Amino acid sequence: MNRSLYILVFCSVFYSACYAQKEGAYQPDKKLLKTIDKNLADASLQYKVLAKNLPPGKFPKTFYPATGEYEFSNSGWWCSGFYPGTLLYLYEQTKDSSLYNEAMRILNVLEKEKNNTGTHDLGFMMYCSFANANRLQPKPGYKEILLTSARSLSTRFNKTVGCIRSWNGKPDEYLVIIDNMMNLELLFWATRISGDSSFYKIAVTHANTTMKNHFRPDYSSYHVINYNAQTGAVQQKRTAQGAADESAWARGQAWGLYGFTVTYRETKDKQYLEQAKHIASFLLHHPNLPKDKIPYWDFNAPGIPGALRDASAAAIMASALIELGGYVDKKSAKEYRSVAETILRNLSNEHYKAAAGTNGGFIIQHGVGHLPNKTEVDVPLSYADYYFVEAMIRYKQL
Ligand code: GLY
Repeated sequence: MNRSLYILVFCSVFYSACYAQKEGAYQPDKKLLKTIDKNLADASLQYKVLAKNLPPGKFPKTFYPATGEYEFSNSGWWCSGFYPGTLLYLYEQTKDSSLYNEAMRILNVLEKEKNNTGTHDLGFMMYCSFANANRLQPKPGYKEILLTSARSLSTRFNKTVGCIRSWNGKPDEYLVIIDNMMNLELLFWATRISGDSSFYKIAVTHANTTMKNHFRPDYSSYHVINYNAQTGAVQQKRTAQGAADESAWARGQAWGLYGFTVTYRETKDKQYLEQAKHIASFLLHHPNLPKDKIPYWDFNAPGIPGALRDASAAAIMASALIELGGYVDKKSAKEYRSVAETILRNLSNEHYKAAAGTNGGFIIQHGVGHLPNKTEVDVPLSYADYYFVEAMIRYKQL
């Protein structure tokens, strides 16, 4: 190699290495990282308050600060996995064994739900809990519980419709909600562990049918699709928890964003990545997304800007955006991470993050569960806590 060619090659290799390092490395916000560390320490103390107030065999549902009353649930409620899941995330961060012990106690209560074929929520219930337990301290018993749960969930799949049934409606209704995308992670895990591809096929078929029928041309999604179980035809597109059939219920949009991000992670099929990016674009460029990026409970809620915000939708969005940011070009990654940072900063302020010992021990305030039903309105919610903690851990790991 002549001398000038050698210099040219050397310079270009040196430049590429420097450039790659500069562009590839994401610089997290140091101040936010400090806030996150404080949040995680505070959250651990809050969850000890929650644990102390929990009757045996019960799971935290919500708390009404005005009256000081709790609402608890049994293990069959769709949210029963979030409490152990949050305890395990917090244990992972703090190494406080009392959090781990409390998680183990409540997992024993939850275990029987592995045989529950009456709900589509087994992903939420069993994956957020037992998969985290298995990740931290693997045990063969956890694998059995998760595989049994995946089998139970799979019994709700109908080949003709191409979906897992969400709600048991009337005999002529086959109801599927966008939230159901969140239960697929359990099925992907089950195929990976067992080698049985039937779980994977169900998950992919469900995602494809959802992509075809749940979305509008602007990539907002309906909450509920009512299929004909015999023919698979769409009979109705409507809402249950949103403001109107044609509105964009905030948490539903967040479930879709998170669900298609997971589906891309598990399949590496670009169509799911495109779907997740389209959903992100709908959310982040929506004129009704406030500057602080904490969505109203519905993007078309009546009374905006006076409508209630839903902190749970914000937390789910933040967690999903941080993961999605790892799969896209630099410009999109920057946008997703910047919105996630804004959400995390704002959920950390005193309006959303409860003061020590208040809020019944829940971490986050101002979630909206089911506004049309007038239940769990402007209250703490176990899933707002779970996804807030998950998003903070994901941010730390960037
Ligand atoms: N149906 C679950 C949720 O309220 O998001």
